[in-house]
Amino acid sequence: LKGISIAIDGPAAAGKSTIAKRIAQKLHYTYIDTGAMYRALTHKAIQSDIDMDSDNDLADLLMDTEILLVPEKGGQAVWIDGIDCSEEIRSQLVTGAVSKVASHPTVRKMMVDKQRALANDSGVVMDGRDIGTEVLPNADLKIFMTASVDERAERRFQENEKRGIHSSLESLKEDIERRDRADSEREVSPLKKAADAILVDTTSMSIDDVVDKVIELAEMRM
Ligand code: C5P
Repeated sequence: LKGISIAIDGPAAAGKSTIAKRIAQKLHYTYIDTGAMYRALTHKAIQSDIDMDSDNDLADLLMDTEILLVPEKGGQAVWIDGIDCSEEIRSQLVTGAVSKVASHPTVRKMMVDKQRALANDSGVVMDGRDIGTEVLPNADLKIFMTASVDERAERRFQENEKRGIHSSLESLKEDIERRDRADSEREVSPLKKAADAILVDTTSMSIDDVVDKVIELAEMRM
């Protein structure tokens, strides 16, 4: 069986990374969380007091930043300049600013180059917003994963509770809607289903159901 490339795109909190991680684990593929890369740059920009409206300043910062996606049991750690920042990049502050950072053309071009370089021939699962449309337009399998906004907010709420973070369902919903709007309406590679992507609505599916469905689709392409 040949290693294939699997692109998983979709709106915020649709379960992309949970599913992508499990699939990569099952198939012994490389998992690449591209959202984590934009989050890492956003975290460093906040720390360095960089203007989030400046594509140039952010691109310069990115040039000076080492972002490593380190595989670890059941997932992926994110190291910025030699420090494990896996927790920090999920903060409210970063989540609130990341779509702005990700809207800039030079930043995106540099990230896309990095992401393409990380994809290898031995099998890759990459999740994000523009994987099927821009990063890996020739991916063997493209999935566009969605769920109702209420379901996505509820899942994020439960996930936060498990991590000991107490949040309000209503504000999570607003945050998700705001981010989806920014990601869908930006000029450079907006969030959009690729013409050849398979739509998977996970609203009433369990994690196992979604994993099984994607694996089945993947096996048809190996
Ligand atoms: O996937 P995650 O929610 O961690 O992504 C954080 C943000 O990074 C998204 O809301 C989006 O603004 C940006 N992003 C992007 N392109 C990708 C992945 C993420 O613009 N391929």
